[in-house]
Amino acid sequence: MKRLYLLGLLACLVQPAFADVKPTAAQDRQAFIADLIGRMTLEEKIGQLRLISIGADMPQPQILKEIAAGHIGGTFNTVTRADNRPLQDAAVSSRLKIPIFFAYDVVHGHRTIFPISLALASSWDMQAVALAGRTSAIEAAADGIDMTFAPMVDITHDPRWGRTSEGFGEDPHLVSMTGATMVKAFQGAAPNTADSVMASVKHFALYGAVEGGRDYNTVDMSPVRMYQEYLPPYKAALDAGSGGVMVALNSINGVPATANTWLMHDLLRKEWGFKGVTVSDHGAVTELINHGVADNEREAAKLAIKAGIDLSMHDSLYRDELPGLVKSGEVSVQEIDNAVREVLGAKYDMGLFADPYLRIGKATDDPQDNNAESRLHREAARDVARKSMVLLKNEARTLPLKKQGRIALIGPLGDAKVDMLGSWSAAGVPMQAVTLYQGLRNAVGDKAQVVYARGANVTDDAHVVDYLNFLNWDAPEVVQDPRPPKELIANAVEVARQADVIVAAVGESRGMSHESSSRTSLSIPASQRALLKALKATGKPLVIVLMNGRPLQLNWAQANADAILETWFSGTEGGNAIADVLFGDYNPSGKLPISFPRSVGQIPTYYNHLRIGRPFIEGKPGNYTSQYFEEPNGALYPFGYGLSYTQFSLSDISLSSATLRRDGRLEASVTLKNTGTRDGETVVQLYIQDIAASMIRPVKELKDFRKVMLKAGEEQVVRFDIDEDELKFYNAQLQHVAEAGRFNLQIGLDSKDVKQQGFELR
Ligand code: BGC
Repeated sequence: MKRLYLLGLLACLVQPAFADVKPTAAQDRQAFIADLIGRMTLEEKIGQLRLISIGADMPQPQILKEIAAGHIGGTFNTVTRADNRPLQDAAVSSRLKIPIFFAYDVVHGHRTIFPISLALASSWDMQAVALAGRTSAIEAAADGIDMTFAPMVDITHDPRWGRTSEGFGEDPHLVSMTGATMVKAFQGAAPNTADSVMASVKHFALYGAVEGGRDYNTVDMSPVRMYQEYLPPYKAALDAGSGGVMVALNSINGVPATANTWLMHDLLRKEWGFKGVTVSDHGAVTELINHGVADNEREAAKLAIKAGIDLSMHDSLYRDELPGLVKSGEVSVQEIDNAVREVLGAKYDMGLFADPYLRIGKATDDPQDNNAESRLHREAARDVARKSMVLLKNEARTLPLKKQGRIALIGPLGDAKVDMLGSWSAAGVPMQAVTLYQGLRNAVGDKAQVVYARGANVTDDAHVVDYLNFLNWDAPEVVQDPRPPKELIANAVEVARQADVIVAAVGESRGMSHESSSRTSLSIPASQRALLKALKATGKPLVIVLMNGRPLQLNWAQANADAILETWFSGTEGGNAIADVLFGDYNPSGKLPISFPRSVGQIPTYYNHLRIGRPFIEGKPGNYTSQYFEEPNGALYPFGYGLSYTQFSLSDISLSSATLRRDGRLEASVTLKNTGTRDGETVVQLYIQDIAASMIRPVKELKDFRKVMLKAGEEQVVRFDIDEDELKFYNAQLQHVAEAGRFNLQIGLDSKDVKQQGFELR
């Protein structure tokens, strides 16, 4: 073992010639780490537990000094090999030569930006999701990054929450599948391969359930609901091998996640058997004082380390307080060692002991231009982006557009490079993004004319503009057109009048769907609503292209637009991808991963809600049922909804048997037919309802889905296998059980319009 360790040390000294020294067996790993811990001073151990933000925490010379002293375990926010190399040089010059690791928020792309996470989930296409994740990892690893703070699998039922854009929607099954796919794609063959990054699933746990959708707010939730709805995606990401877990900023039933022993010890480590590293969120240890569970810094550090926070992000408290806490005996060396073991284990798994420069490489191999076009993966981004768009309305076949005549592109998001990228756009460069204006012109060439008018600012609310520009250090995020709103609209109307069709690019600026950007309204901002009304008044066909990171309130658009395409924030190749869809070069196939309420007052509108005693029955209004009386009930666009340029029909469900035995299987099949005149893809969705159980069960739950491509006129039998596992739920004792009785199996092309068939579990 000692030999291995010495080889490891030599590898650090004479890098990267020792890249082939890869101790692999689990036993070797354990012994290697134990041996290393045995040589560490308390200060060095504590150093390993500190994750430092480059550019925010301390000046560069001090960072280098602290790394060289062995006082920093990892850093985040550097995105080039040239930036990371001197930091790693400092680490391998430290007494024990323990490498540091480099992390970054690689959420939906690194240099090439893919559509935002909510859009990735809208594809319901795991190959597309995997392509986005794998490409992001390859690009990030090529920039010397070892770990990503992703995927984010926080389920949310509240679109007011700005981070809705970062997640995969409202459904446990879809979020779990998408999250697990991302983890596997990030980590590739294994986290220690040169083109992989280690995933750290976040934010553990329940962050998407913050009260009122207000970021960082408290979460209060019954254990059954946690286990049934909110926890499965984290577990799925761990089962997929996520090496890390980022702990959430919120509290859970009165205890902040960062100080939550139940969460990290009992659930994560004991019940789920997690063996990787836990990372606090940014400054979360200090925030324990604000939460009111720690009276001072010392208590905060003590609570966090004891609860199981291995790495303290943006740390000062572990450095300042842990030495004294250990000295006084309040924190044991064992507790410190436990955390250090996980940090070193993660570094081991990332391949950094075998070669600290695994992803940084040799200086001579550094890219001459980090932003070079040749480093981008445009084709992949375009492919994934068009698969993620959802056609919400298409009256009288307004879409696809013909590449002829004159097309008026109007709206503040029609030529907005920054917004195309969406929030958390990693090392994406706005100048490299294709706007819709560019995309439309690329698509039509000289066959048609595309004219553009801005028509409005994203918002005229000076307070909102100030808010959105608050955090941007390099350049303002939102640049206002100084012309008066009336003049902007008048100009747009003039342009629209001379065109055959209007494409209105409206929605949110990207910062409106971001961390801490919670909204009280889901409306398209007033400036753009006024523009849309003026455009409608021209009488020209109106196609609304939405760019936004959360469900919006779209009643007016649904009533007045001829077509609506939800494009989310579609990334570097967004403009080309949207043009592909608008002109029918790609037939839209996305489905909503989250319900669109009719108004803020309807929140939450998630489809898989529990049954109640007095349900509202559509078409049979009346008193004393559960309803809002001023407007139609239920989502405007339900979960799983999305149109195509072709039409599909589903046959009735045929079941292999009316009874499912506990050790048996049931096959449900439907015939899907493309009854239209174009080839197209759709998603066949399987839902199950437990008709009567010991606990109230949801009206339906997604259990499986298939994305199917059919040529015009073609049909295909789509089969689903159901076994006891699909019927299991957490009962009042938190046992995962399937109870005998009747079930209602539903298959549809969205969650609302379904075929049904009963069966019994015996
Ligand atoms: C966010 C995390 C993110 C971290 C590092 C925090 O503010 O909540 O999601 O990973 O910053 O950038």
